[in-house]
Amino acid sequence: MKRIGMLTSGGDCQALNAAMRGVVKSIYNSGQEVEIYGFLNGYRGLIYGDFKMLTSRDFSGILTIGGTILGSSRTPFKTIKDPDENGLDKVEAMKQNYYKLKLDCLVILGGNGTHKTANLLRQEGLNVITLPKTIDNDLYGTDMTFGFQSAVDLATSVIDCIHTTAASHGRVFVIEVMGHKVGYLTLNAGMAGGADIILIPEIPFDIDKIAKKVEQRLKDGNRFTIIAVAEGAISKEDAKLSKKEYQKKLNNKKYPSVSYEVADLIQQKTGQEVRVTVPGHMQRGGSPCPYDRVFASRLGAEAGKLILEDEYGFMVGYRNREIVKVPLEDVAGKLKMLDPDAAIIKEAKMLGISFGD
Ligand code: F6P
Repeated sequence: MKRIGMLTSGGDCQALNAAMRGVVKSIYNSGQEVEIYGFLNGYRGLIYGDFKMLTSRDFSGILTIGGTILGSSRTPFKTIKDPDENGLDKVEAMKQNYYKLKLDCLVILGGNGTHKTANLLRQEGLNVITLPKTIDNDLYGTDMTFGFQSAVDLATSVIDCIHTTAASHGRVFVIEVMGHKVGYLTLNAGMAGGADIILIPEIPFDIDKIAKKVEQRLKDGNRFTIIAVAEGAISKEDAKLSKKEYQKKLNNKKYPSVSYEVADLIQQKTGQEVRVTVPGHMQRGGSPCPYDRVFASRLGAEAGKLILEDEYGFMVGYRNREIVKVPLEDVAGKLKMLDPDAAIIKEAKMLGISFGD
């Protein structure tokens, strides 16, 4: 008999359910008896012993459903060792619940923050297997995270829609794409949607270069310009600021986000009519795309295999087109950023896309 605890933590994304279904199906189909404890709302469920017993039936019919049947929450790693408002030691509480339920392991689905806590639990002696989720694709140790391709599809369809209205009105459109501090989502959706300018955090931009590109397009007879801006995009001047100075600027809240700043400055510099579209959390919602359904199912099945073989302390990741197990200590606390010299950036530039650099 295996006793498995499972939780989904951090911002949700598509295919979390598909991944959990993959884990459970692969274990059930092996003939191994199993008890599944689903902790609710991320690490909170593990801290406060809030769980529900699940059977294989609970994982039926969820392959195509977005969100997570377990619920999720953000439990910041930087305060995980601080006692809660009632003085509870959160790390100790998680360990106690694990031991009380006599769990063989925890299956934890999450992104960067989640992996730091997962690694801490491993260091504390718990058996942990993780699965890489996030629309940002910024998790170190894996070429791909599930949720990413679904979000690319959604952000692309936003850009597609904007394209037609931008063309009708001859406007400049700034579309803000999620992705936290990295540009994978913006780059891919921008290229797929035929954006003329793509701004990503890894390549700080010069607003004058962007304005020049907009004006050049006009001269060339193009009445509109599509700009895909990563929520974490940053100007060359701001990139020179210290973290503290930059935070101070953001706190001034002159603009709700970088897209509005870019839009305002382009309008001032070119006299063009500029509009901003922020699809926001819809990029994390809805049904997973077919790629993510397959990908998350595969990762889940491989996680199930590791559990059957009693191999713990790994994230099940994807590297060079193969599913691999990556030691948690190699993943936790590292961010995977886009390489500004990557072939895809050079190819995008060959297509005439400006990065504002
Ligand atoms: O990490 C996923 C993500 O959607 C990021 O792209 C975004 O910056 C962040 O989460 C938004 O977080 P929240 O859901 O807490 O607003």
